[in-house]
Amino acid sequence: MNDIEWQRPDLRPHIKRISAAAGWRWRQRFSPRGALRRRVAGQVVLITGASSGIGAGLSHRLARAGATVLLVARSIEKLQDTVDDIQADGGRAHAYRCDLADLDSCDRLCEQVL
Ligand SMILES: NC(=O)c1ccc[n+]([C@@H]2O[C@H](COP(=O)([O-])OP(=O)(O)OC[C@H]3O[C@@H](n4cnc5c(N)ncnc54)[C@H](OP(=O)(O)O)[C@@H]3O)[C@@H](O)[C@H]2O)c1
Repeated sequence: MNDIEWQRPDLRPHIKRISAAAGWRWRQRFSPRGALRRRVAGQVVLITGASSGIGAGLSHRLARAGATVLLVARSIEKLQDTVDDIQADGGRAHAYRCDLADLDSCDRLCEQVL
């Protein structure tokens, strides 16, 4: 005897996610800056590897879009340079030293950030 009860799946969360993704793509296509601003303005974003390369570039873009960026890497001096640049540009940024390969260091980062 088959006692498995069939239940109607709840599709609402999926529909909500798909429509949010479609809205994001549409806005990104026609107003990329506005789309990013709408997504991150007023949010706090933690960026690892923020002292150079992709992380540093991302930090500038998110700060310009209105996010408060928390920059993480091992070299605090390089991070501080990025923080200074972002603040000079009118953005909000804070630097945190952390070696992500060291779990104790990650725990300390979480405590500091929280
Ligand atoms: N550049 C590209 O075209 C490209 C393309 C595809 C994928 N990627 C990947 O994207 C990532 C970033 O690339 P990138 O070019 O921006 O590299 P990058 O300029 O060398 O930047 C790496 C960042 O990670 C930090 N970092 C490294 N080890 C760390 C650790 N143990 N704890 C905390 N922070 C650490 C570095 O700062 P500290 O040394 O001060 O800690 C630095 O801020 C890499 O994984 C790379 O393989 C890059």
